[in-house]
Amino acid sequence: MALIHRLSPKSGPAIAFRVDGVACEGWPGDTLLTAILSQGEVLRRSDFSREPRAGFCQMGACQDCWVLLAEGGKVRACTTPLAAGMSVLTGWEETP
Ligand code: FES
Repeated sequence: MALIHRLSPKSGPAIAFRVDGVACEGWPGDTLLTAILSQGEVLRRSDFSREPRAGFCQMGACQDCWVLLAEGGKVRACTTPLAAGMSVLTGWEETP
């Protein structure tokens, strides 16, 4: 089940990306956060509690939406535009 539901029709060509190795699709204009949460309920795991997180401020101020990029680096999902070929690691799969 998705946490974010689109209210307007999708437009433009789909943008392929991966979350924890799983193929996903987003749409032009999506942030990484929007693209991930329109396909699931969890953005990442907290670094401290390991609890599921879905971002908080949605405007680049709180740091609750950090996700790792498979090629290295860490980005705020709420302010990062989705780009074709992105591969994101949420930390979710590390759950014991
Ligand atoms: S949700 Fe707060 S910085 Fe992204």
